[in-house]
Amino acid sequence: MSAVWLKIITILCLYCSALTDTEVKGLVWRNVGEAFTIQCRTDREQESLCLQMGLNKEFDVFFRNKISVKDIVAQKFTGRLESNGVFPNMDIFIKNLSLTDTGPYWCGYSMYDEMAHEQKVINGKGSMLLVVTDEGLPYHSETTTRRHQ
Ligand SMILES: *[C@@H]1O[C@H](CO)[C@@H](O)[C@H](O)[C@H]1NC(C)=O
Repeated sequence: MSAVWLKIITILCLYCSALTDTEVKGLVWRNVGEAFTIQCRTDREQESLCLQMGLNKEFDVFFRNKISVKDIVAQKFTGRLESNGVFPNMDIFIKNLSLTDTGPYWCGYSMYDEMAHEQKVINGKGSMLLVVTDEGLPYHSETTTRRHQ
């Protein structure tokens, strides 16, 4: 088995065990140069959305505040990312994918909790694992990606 596949399997295992049942366990396969859309959803009032990447959410990809229409996009995704929708429900489209875009993407919503006097962060619906490969898709992409199209 190639090193690429061992890496993908490791990411898969860590990602699936990190998710709770209430979150969407979406898995999307793409080839290098292709595009994907992540659909962040929540049914509760929120003040901001931060799309984060990485097993420990260590990388901020995209930020949108409720009262501002200006997006903040990480340099790595500048010119490749578009957002659509009405806050807090946003579709985030990323094109020209590269191998280093592989990883979990989390829809992190944040709201100030008056009672607790603290910022409350929740995972919205739409979090997913993206796997970008240059070795061809492992099986027909329609079976794994239809719910996101
Ligand atoms: C896509 O990204 C690669 C680097 O990953 C870059 O060389 C290429 O110019 C980009 N293509 C487009 C159409 O932006």
